[in-house]
Amino acid sequence: MAKELQLFKVCKNTFGQIRSFHKTAAVLSAPKLKKFAIYRYDPEGTEKKPYVKEYSVDLNTCGPMVLDALFKIKNEVDPTLTFRRSCREGICGSCAMNMNGLNSLACITKIDDDVNKTMKIYPLPHMYVVKDLVPDMSHFYNQYTSIKPYLQRDDQIETGVQQYLQSTDDRDKLDGLYECILCACCSTSCPSYWWNGDKYLGPAVLMQAYRWIIDSRDTATEERLDRLKDSYSAFRCHTIMNCTRTCPKGLNPGRAIAEVKKLLAGFAQKEAPGLDTTGLHK
Ligand code: SF4
Ligand code: SF4
Ligand code: FES
Repeated sequence: MAKELQLFKVCKNTFGQIRSFHKTAAVLSAPKLKKFAIYRYDPEGTEKKPYVKEYSVDLNTCGPMVLDALFKIKNEVDPTLTFRRSCREGICGSCAMNMNGLNSLACITKIDDDVNKTMKIYPLPHMYVVKDLVPDMSHFYNQYTSIKPYLQRDDQIETGVQQYLQSTDDRDKLDGLYECILCACCSTSCPSYWWNGDKYLGPAVLMQAYRWIIDSRDTATEERLDRLKDSYSAFRCHTIMNCTRTCPKGLNPGRAIAEVKKLLAGFAQKEAPGLDTTGLHK
């Protein structure tokens, strides 16, 4: 036992030394300065027009993600820099922005550590800007509201008393759809949405429309499809697939839109539920 205790003490000391060595090395190593060119716009400030401002960040004292660099700039250099964030782990979707030309989430996008290249950071493209990296999401959310993103039933069963039944096969149809975090990276990378965003719903909202259309428990399928039958809402998608390429959650809104189009054109039909949805209510 005494021997084991001695061994434990030796290991503890060694690990302590290694840790302090690393800490000292980080402090003594030369700064690794990386430039960030960031879009700035403050409608209430003295500078009325948008401009790009450059900042240098020492990557040796910064976390690995773009959001870490934005925090470092805001906390240590320029507290006026404005951006949205919440979860810092790719769940809430609020830190969506355009980094080096690609839409993604700043909290899960690694900083390109080549210090010879400036990292360019802009708000999501073709959106009105509230301030700096904060886009105005009102229109996007209004479009989302327009597809009624909740369960609709045509019976008068009291809700909250019994669950609705769904077969495992029917439940599987929702995979790859329900995980969407509504970050809008896909919609704001879609050229059709850039040009016709007033009437075209865009990939994120269309994927959620499809999520409710094919839900075996939902009975408003016809109404939901009718909502999309005009020549803009869904048919402005030209299958360019930028949306699927950019989705930071690895989802495939382009495919969901193709399925919506098949239903709209009558090439596919929604299948009958695999289980009696209201079986437990009888
Ligand atoms: S597939 Fe459709 S929604 Fe996706 S980027 Fe292309 S046009 Fe836009
Ligand atoms: S489909 Fe992907 S990119 Fe589009 S809103 Fe959802 S999570 Fe974001
Ligand atoms: S902070 Fe929530 S997704 Fe980035």
